[in-house]
Amino acid sequence: MFNFTYYTPTQVVFGRDAEEQTGALVKAQGCKKVLIHYGGGSVVRSGLLDRVKAALDREGVAYVELGGVVPNPRLSLVYQGIELCKKEGVDFILAVGGGSVIDSSKAIAYGLAEDADVWELYDHSRQAKACLPVGTVLTIAAAGSEMSNSSVITKDEGGVKRGYNNDICRPKFAVMNPALTATLPPYQTASGCVDILMHTMERYFTPNGTMELTDSLAEGLMRAVMANAKILHADPKNYEARAEIMWASSLSHNGLTGCGSDGGDWASHGLEHEMGGMFDVTHGAGLAAVWGSWARYVYKDCLDRFVKFAVRVMEVENTGAPEEVALKGIEAMEDFYRSIDMPTCFSELGISPTQEQLETMAKMCIVAGGGKKGAAKVLYEADCLRIYELANH
Ligand code: NZQ
Ligand code: ZN
Repeated sequence: MFNFTYYTPTQVVFGRDAEEQTGALVKAQGCKKVLIHYGGGSVVRSGLLDRVKAALDREGVAYVELGGVVPNPRLSLVYQGIELCKKEGVDFILAVGGGSVIDSSKAIAYGLAEDADVWELYDHSRQAKACLPVGTVLTIAAAGSEMSNSSVITKDEGGVKRGYNNDICRPKFAVMNPALTATLPPYQTASGCVDILMHTMERYFTPNGTMELTDSLAEGLMRAVMANAKILHADPKNYEARAEIMWASSLSHNGLTGCGSDGGDWASHGLEHEMGGMFDVTHGAGLAAVWGSWARYVYKDCLDRFVKFAVRVMEVENTGAPEEVALKGIEAMEDFYRSIDMPTCFSELGISPTQEQLETMAKMCIVAGGGKKGAAKVLYEADCLRIYELANH
């Protein structure tokens, strides 16, 4: 077990009609003017944006709006947001949407707090010293950005997708009404469930120090996500299942399922970020498409964890033959992905990269990782390329 710091400063307001409290939550932050940041229109169509504005109006909070965030949120809109906020004297960012909107909000908040190019954070050429406060009204259970210290932005030129982690961007509050996620297309619901699972799996597959309590929390979370993802596949409006998944999205990525470990593996995320940057795929679906190839490539180097996962999460019988059990666990997870219509290879994801594109992604993945990636097995450029090749059918 490693020493750890567990820091989760985000106030969670969870349940039906929770968004009605947004005005009071923002007002309690003592800000002068708010940017309401949102995506491509789902919050307009659902009426949520109007309800949030009415909640701010009731508390006499002034605001301006900026919509248009796309999945894999772009740096160009972040720059626009920074300019707008400077002009309007905004001192609080309210994200109404999913991980993309929240990440774009965090980037704007960084950009406003310091007089330097915000992309320097994402290309890791400097560290942030300050960040304006961010609050969230969550509309999709997936990325966990509502409690995480991460923000992932894509630079328009060259499709360079990069993450930046710093505790100072953790949102002040997260408003989570599971009913708001009922309008999601099934593909987004399922992709979100994969992302939630992956945030815990990334932390689980490491040979370096773990705790039994953390493992049990992680295993319980993964079992609950799979069970409720299947319920939602058959019954998308099921509120209880929506609630289970939504709470899991936060707990999976707020650090809880990593306490005591070395920080985890994160290679699948690194591999997916290059796919997202180059092909603009949905993050969770991209993870599902590459995970099996990653797992088969690395499992022998982290065999105990893969066996534990197979037996305790995927309910594989422990026959005493570790490699066989580990492989059955990987197969069972891929079967689960298929059961909720998620891809397990690139053709099912709808992409067919050329060899040159695979090589570019492998190179960029290792550059982003600072020379290597992963903990279950430490990967270098040739390893990443091999994993991409294994997934490319
Ligand atoms: O833009 P709108 O019209 O709102 O549509 C969105 C979008 O098309 C739609 N949607 C969201 N809520 C909806 C809805 N449609 C109907 N009803 C609703 N209630 O869903 C689509 C996906 O939204 P997005 O915000 O992109 O989803 P997600 O939360 O999965 O975020 C993905 C982004 O987060 C990054 C990913 O890489 C990706 O860029 N990640 C961020 C992390 C973090 N900050 O901690 C960690 C993750 O690992 C991840 O990398
Ligand atoms: Zn993720």
